[in-house]
Amino acid sequence: MSEDLKPLESPLWLIGNKGMLGTELSQLLEKQGIPFTGTDREVDITSPAALDAYAEKQNAHGRISWIINCAAYTAVDKAEDDVETCRNLNAEGPGNIARTAEKFGARFIQLSTDYVFDGRGIPLAGEAAPFRPYREDDETRPIGVYGLTKRDGERRVLENHGESYIIRTAWLYGEHGNNFVHTMLRLMNEREEVKVVDDQWGSPTWAADLSRALVSLIMACDGPAAPAPGLYHYTNEGAVTWFGFAREIYRLGQSLGLIKKNCALRPCGSAEYPAKVKRPAYSVLDKTKFKTALGQTIPPWNESLKRYLESRA
Ligand SMILES: NC(=O)c1ccc[n+]([C@@H]2O[C@H](COP(=O)([O-])OP(=O)(O)OC[C@H]3O[C@@H](n4cnc5c(N)ncnc54)[C@H](OP(=O)(O)O)[C@@H]3O)[C@@H](O)[C@H]2O)c1
Repeated sequence: MSEDLKPLESPLWLIGNKGMLGTELSQLLEKQGIPFTGTDREVDITSPAALDAYAEKQNAHGRISWIINCAAYTAVDKAEDDVETCRNLNAEGPGNIARTAEKFGARFIQLSTDYVFDGRGIPLAGEAAPFRPYREDDETRPIGVYGLTKRDGERRVLENHGESYIIRTAWLYGEHGNNFVHTMLRLMNEREEVKVVDDQWGSPTWAADLSRALVSLIMACDGPAAPAPGLYHYTNEGAVTWFGFAREIYRLGQSLGLIKKNCALRPCGSAEYPAKVKRPAYSVLDKTKFKTALGQTIPPWNESLKRYLESRA
């Protein structure tokens, strides 16, 4: 896909550039020679004045064309006891950024989550599989503070800047920050046995694939067939439980020399796993809208995991 990318005429502002996705996206933008400016906590998204002041300052060097927000409160369990901070970051913050984007004539991409759904699934009448993946227009019904505040953030964004793009993603992992793949590799190298939840279904998503998808969305918006603003789903293709994901990490990790000993993997139920908050049991997202709008296919989760682990080996 990289050959299709061409530099933007004016800079992009990447908010949350030090997080897992933000760091990955920064590296891609740098590699592609796409002009951008990045901020993290130093420009507090809960402060409309700080956002406006930064946009004002940047505009003196060339109008900001796009804003992408990767900043968020992502500690799902902690959020249950830290509701106000979580709400400020996940709901008010994106609303503030959308207002700044509208004011300064920039287009806006907000990242959101599969946790806006309750995970009970949409029953699939007359077919063998019990559920179909969630579509963008399915009713949201978050079951925890994190999902609720992200859902409210989506609403604030669309209220304040109706031409925004909201990309819901899920189960992210990548080179930077703490994530399931890193945790599993560490535990599998340390322990004789690891228990993993086998009753939550989702789609593991490589932050590098999502970064490429975000850049291609921007490029498409500058082309003749610009995707319509609004909600889109993007994850890697396929669905698996956390246990199935862990089993593949183990298999590939051993064959690539990233796991240097044997470790027994045991499936368990969510009820056995102490967690502050209930997580959706089935949060697979339907990506048809994104694939159709961009004319692209999306890599399957297991192929992307393989490419990621090979890059680490
Ligand atoms: N990770 C996942 O599995 C997952 C799944 C679905 C959707 N998403 C969504 O994808 C996006 C990116 O997630 P991520 O995992 O890359 O997030 P992340 O690693 O937690 O990064 C978030 C960044 O925002 C920064 N930040 C915190 N408070 C801020 C403030 N007031 N102003 C500006 N920046 C602030 C954080 O700084 P500190 O580190 O110092 O707090 C951090 O660098 C988020 O919208 C998230 O909801 C993630």
